Amino acid sequence: MTTPKPRVAIYPGSFDPLTSGHVDIIERGSRIFDQIIVSILSNVEKTPLFSEKERIEIIRDVFKGRGNVQVETFHGLLVDYAQQKQASVIVRGLRAVSDFEYEFQMALMNRHLAPGIETVFMMPAEQYTYISSRLIKEVFMLGGEITGLVPPLVEQKLRAKQKAKKK
Ligand SMILES: Nc1ncnc2c1ncn2[C@@H]1O[C@H](COP(=O)(O)OP(=O)(O)OP(=O)(O)O)[C@@H](O)[C@H]1O
Ligand SMILES: [Mg+2]
Repeated sequence: MTTPKPRVAIYPGSFDPLTSGHVDIIERGSRIFDQIIVSILSNVEKTPLFSEKERIEIIRDVFKGRGNVQVETFHGLLVDYAQQKQASVIVRGLRAVSDFEYEFQMALMNRHLAPGIETVFMMPAEQYTYISSRLIKEVFMLGGEITGLVPPLVEQKLRAKQKAKKK
């Protein structure tokens, strides 16, 4: 008898920065799949708040106790990268109906490109459904309270960025 192949999932995104919504999805994914690779999309056009290196370090630190959560960056076509990693699943989070249209289109395009890869949608706990990285950055920069909406390490790093900017 052959042992079944480990089921590897890719969770792609920009994670600029990691939020409690992302953490929720990663935890759910890590309970279902043998391995989940949090894959940070290198985007040369966007100027991120956190560098790729900083984002990797944050996610690795938050999940240091979870052996089956890995963190990497990637560029190019997601399905090519997934195949390279021998991943059979792409995990995406769904917050609201507003996510649906874009996600639906992407999932079907990825299926067209790579029929062997399945996109799996997961819903976070209700209290995280309104969180996005963009909104966190906006609220934080305007002095709003974000405790609990991001991991404590992210809040700490945001404060450090703010301090550096003021100097
Ligand atoms: N609060 C959340 N709950 C569940 N899924 C989420 C949440 N935030 C993001 N996701 C999902 O995580 C994946 C990566 O998203 P991404 O890195 O774009 O995060 P984002 O918060 O949407 O950031 P941005 O505001 O920069 O678009 C996507 O599948 C997205 O739907
Ligand atoms: Mg987004």
